[in-house]
Amino acid sequence: MNPTVRIEPSADGSLTAYHGLYNEYFHSKHGALSQARQVYLEGTETHRHPEPHVLEVGFGLGLNFLVTLQNARQRGAVLSYLAYEKDPVPLPLLEAFQHGLSGVEDAWEALLAAWESPEGFVLQGVDFRLEVCFRDVRQVRFPEGWASAIYLDPFSPRTNPEPWAAEVLQGLFHAARPGALLATYSVAGQVRRDLAAAGFTVTKVPGVLGKREWLRATKPEACTAREAPPE
Ligand SMILES: C[S@@+](CC[C@H](N)C(=O)[O-])C[C@H]1O[C@@H](n2cnc3c(N)ncnc32)[C@H](O)[C@@H]1O
Repeated sequence: MNPTVRIEPSADGSLTAYHGLYNEYFHSKHGALSQARQVYLEGTETHRHPEPHVLEVGFGLGLNFLVTLQNARQRGAVLSYLAYEKDPVPLPLLEAFQHGLSGVEDAWEALLAAWESPEGFVLQGVDFRLEVCFRDVRQVRFPEGWASAIYLDPFSPRTNPEPWAAEVLQGLFHAARPGALLATYSVAGQVRRDLAAAGFTVTKVPGVLGKREWLRATKPEACTAREAPPE
């Protein structure tokens, strides 16, 4: 197993992992599962969307995906999920990650079976489609106008600046549908400025996990109003 990554408990009892090279955790130490639910699933209103299309930067251990699929299944919604991951964790680490989520065991088993495909994989279930691309997000072309929600979840801009680059955030803006919501745990000033420069409307949201704020960015709805014709 990769000695630089190890599984550890977070404060809400759910597991996360620590990455020795980045010196950071994959999720909030205040609660991995709570962060997945509150910041990403609910923060992007994906828990209410009838047919969510989620684009994720940083698939990590797949916790955000599992939480999103569990919620979609509980309300009979069909989920499409497209994730990018530059540096997939070793399979034994993923196998040891006890997420404890019920109702998603079939997807988790299929994901483990597909994990060692060199370039990524697609899982097609009856009520979900998951595509994981093992690529650096700086080198991909996102699908235009595809996402109802964006989970922007790399390591922090301080230790992992590449996926936060202004060009990546511009690409995410084009990948978003009008009205789509992006969530991220980072409130760094440069991230807020670059999201706004890309076209998003950016707001800081008060956090509940260790009182940390997080960011929500909205792609404005297309303006459909027409100027009145001259009298
Ligand atoms: C905070 S963890 C993500 C946790 C994950 N969302 C989950 O639910 O378990 C950050 C992830 O971003 C990935 N990452 C970092 N830089 C990247 C890049 N340039 N392109 C794609 N993924 C990247 C890291 O390898 C790591 O797995």
